[in-house]
Amino acid sequence: MSEKRRILVLHGPNLNLLGRREPEIYGATTLAEIDESLVATARGRGFEVDCQQSNHEGILIDWIQESMGRVAGILINPAGFTHTSVALRDALATCGAPVIEVHLSNVHVREPFRRQSFVSAVAIGTVAGLGPAGYQLGLRALMEHLEA
Ligand code: DQA
Repeated sequence: MSEKRRILVLHGPNLNLLGRREPEIYGATTLAEIDESLVATARGRGFEVDCQQSNHEGILIDWIQESMGRVAGILINPAGFTHTSVALRDALATCGAPVIEVHLSNVHVREPFRRQSFVSAVAIGTVAGLGPAGYQLGLRALMEHLEA
């Protein structure tokens, strides 16, 4: 499939534990279930998604760099790195592809440190607080943006 129809989905640290991790905040849906639903939605619209998760900041940055010229857009839940990582933000700003930021929880009504996102300024949009549906909405918005 052409790189114009390819989307990189990145999940940051601790999201591999979804379903078991603080389910009262993050829900019962596993990361595998989220990824399966993204693959299906993308396929239905003629896109391909490559879903990756890492607990390591440098690995996420390597994947972003390697995706340059190979993907049309990036959907990312930077998890804890949202609030700490200038380097992740710089990689996203450099890659040239449109970025959509997703958070399962509503980061704006939680601890004050979660209100700051280094990623939002380099994203075309952010979805927060809508659980797994937020990934679907973010993906749909990205596909619409790419087709516009
Ligand atoms: C999160 C919110 C972050 O503050 C947190 O560190 C996460 C998950 C979310 O999806 O709600 O790990 O990105």
